[in-house]
Amino acid sequence: MSARLIDGKATAARVLAEVAGDVAALKARGIEPALAVVLVGSDPASQVYVRNKVLRAGEVGIRSLEYRLGAEASAAEVLEVVEGLNADASVHGILVQLPLPAHISETQVLQAIDPAKDVDGFHSENVGGLSQGRPVLTPCTPAGCMRLLRDTLGDLAGKHAVVVGRSNIVGKPMAALLLAADCSVTVLHSRSVKPQRLCGQADIVVAAVGRPRMIDADWIKPGAVVIDVGINRIEDDGRSRLVGDVDSDAVQPVASAITPVPGGVGPMTIAMLMHNTVTAARQQHS
Ligand code: GUN
Repeated sequence: MSARLIDGKATAARVLAEVAGDVAALKARGIEPALAVVLVGSDPASQVYVRNKVLRAGEVGIRSLEYRLGAEASAAEVLEVVEGLNADASVHGILVQLPLPAHISETQVLQAIDPAKDVDGFHSENVGGLSQGRPVLTPCTPAGCMRLLRDTLGDLAGKHAVVVGRSNIVGKPMAALLLAADCSVTVLHSRSVKPQRLCGQADIVVAAVGRPRMIDADWIKPGAVVIDVGINRIEDDGRSRLVGDVDSDAVQPVASAITPVPGGVGPMTIAMLMHNTVTAARQQHS
């Protein structure tokens, strides 16, 4: 068996086409969806992500605003930007790119964002809504993974899903979404005992640990569907390249379907951000 590659680029293009249609409909009502992106410091990966978010917004007709602050910016300065955007009725979505410099509390900044404009879905009000089964703005990467899983498997009810990693950005909201889709969910983390054995029982594996190629064939049940959220830059034979958290070459003969890196989950994250921006704009004008 060789796993089918799940084409995140193609699915993201479909989502973006839907979003472009929604944007056009909002504009016909006199509403121009707008997304503000705040970047603090000069982390190279964050700069690439922010550039791609702004580019994609333009492609679907969403107005974007970029706020760049130096790495030495104070928490008060970042909060001032967020509060200004909260108060600006022409801005529907606010995204503060993470990680923030170590001297700034991410929690304090994320909690300062108006939950109605929280297109990342990281504010505790949105986290609470998701965990209680009434999601409004859902974290983009897990939402993108769900779309890929539904396209691949259809109904997910009754499947055993294993999420490897328990971050606030991916692991925990991913588990909540899978549970809301009636999966039986196991979350594995650095203190899990015999994680391979637990993971080896899963119909669905979502890997979000940030460790290059950690998950090999021993972790995967034959026929499982594998979603690889990791984007890790490694040096390979003197060449720099991106690999996932899954050892794709080893796992492909075992799994039934797997997302490639790059071209799997990555494009979906940005597509779902655009989707959330439209949802936020619609709700603010309802
Ligand atoms: N850094 C890595 N992933 C994300 C994300 O989904 N949103 C934000 N704001 N920052 C990130």
